Amino acid sequence: MSDCKVIAITNQKGGVGKTTTTVNLGAGLVRQGKKVLLVDADPQGSLTVSLGIKKPDELNSTLANIMQSIVEDKELLSGFGILRTEDGMYLMPSNIELSGIKIRLVNEMSRERVLKTYVDTVRDKYDYILIDCMPSLGIFITDFILNGFITHYNIY
Ligand SMILES: Nc1ncnc2c1ncn2[C@@H]1O[C@H](COP(=O)(O)OP(=O)(O)O)[C@@H](O)[C@H]1O
Ligand SMILES: [Mg+2]
Repeated sequence: MSDCKVIAITNQKGGVGKTTTTVNLGAGLVRQGKKVLLVDADPQGSLTVSLGIKKPDELNSTLANIMQSIVEDKELLSGFGILRTEDGMYLMPSNIELSGIKIRLVNEMSRERVLKTYVDTVRDKYDYILIDCMPSLGIFITDFILNGFITHYNIY
């Protein structure tokens, strides 16, 4: 088991500083010499845009594609789709396609394991993984993200 800490930045409201916190916490950790992966788990893609991706909708590989591959039991290449930012962080980007996967996951038996399965494929390469969540306490956050981790990791 790696020492990687997984932190979800979550709140039911929009505009309260989740994305700003994710970017600044990530940048601060990089300054301390840590290797940091930021995961954009908001279909609005604000984290992705704020890290310099001007047109997230044109990305071929995003968190949505990866979650879809996991649901379909396809093999994941470690590190696939991760971008390196100018500030020395790593980013798993998102765009509006994540809204579609949210709906598809509702009928999946092990839906709460999908994001955790992804994190498990990359966690040994990072000191911190920060997940920037969408503004909701709905099923996507509580079930797909938090429940998937709660029994396995420390939640901060
Ligand atoms: N600590 C802060 N003080 C003042 N403004 C802030 C602070 N944190 C974030 N903001 C501003 O608030 C707005 C929403 O922040 P954002 O991080 O996008 O929120 P969220 O991800 O929760 O929707 C942005 O315009 C951001 O610049
Ligand atoms: Mg945000």
